[in-house]
Amino acid sequence: MSLCYEKREVAANGVAQALAEFRAAGVRGVNVTLPIKEEACQLADILYPRAASAEAANTLWFDDAGRIHADNTDGYGLMADLERLGITLRGASVLLLGAGGAARGVLGELVAAQPARLVLMNRTLARAEQLAARYELECLTPDVHLPQAFDLVINATSIGLGANREISLHPSAVAPRTACYDMVYGRGETAFLQWAAARGANQRHDGLGMLVAQAAEAFRLWHGVSVATPPVIDFVRKRLLG
Ligand code: ATR
Repeated sequence: MSLCYEKREVAANGVAQALAEFRAAGVRGVNVTLPIKEEACQLADILYPRAASAEAANTLWFDDAGRIHADNTDGYGLMADLERLGITLRGASVLLLGAGGAARGVLGELVAAQPARLVLMNRTLARAEQLAARYELECLTPDVHLPQAFDLVINATSIGLGANREISLHPSAVAPRTACYDMVYGRGETAFLQWAAARGANQRHDGLGMLVAQAAEAFRLWHGVSVATPPVIDFVRKRLLG
């Protein structure tokens, strides 16, 4: 396929204008990232359930009538990557760490996967409670000592991005059998995964697979073509992050 996918920086108050320009230029679709996922959602003419539930959109496209369609593939990306890794959610005890946009983007899918227990943890408890309210989830602060470690811990905080590396999660959350998934990715092991390794967690995965899977789902929405993600993950890991 011959196509062009490029990075553009858009001014904070210039999202609507940028979308109008893309549409006029005949662009098929657009991915948007932080901090404009919420605004992209508000600008949509046709909002898909995944974006409505996350109150944020990362994948947009234009139809022949010029309407903006908005979907969110982040939750799908996480679920697809957990499946690729052989991590089962159904019946598992799962901890989601964080209550910002990244957590909100995946919470609907996590609940739908029917874990036996899903706990939302956040430094600011009120934020977790607000996010969890519609699903009636258990909310805790990360410093709480837990009687039992989780099967799966997912980091959806911004810890590991930039200089922010301090992990306040109580060590009791993680045992050697706990699968640890960090939505953050980058060169080398992330801050959260290093923390998990120091606590003996053998199964550690960063968010590169989620990044690729959400992009593959966006690609499917734009082009109707499903992409096999493992070779792409390998390529990005070796060639761009190696
Ligand atoms: P995003 O949209 O990427 O999720 P955000 O809305 O700023 O970004 O949310 C960042 C998340 O990381 C929040 O859950 C934040 O916790 P608070 O709500 O208590 O601020 C969490 N976070 C960031 N740095 C953290 C740290 N050092 N320790 C614990 N949690 C942290």
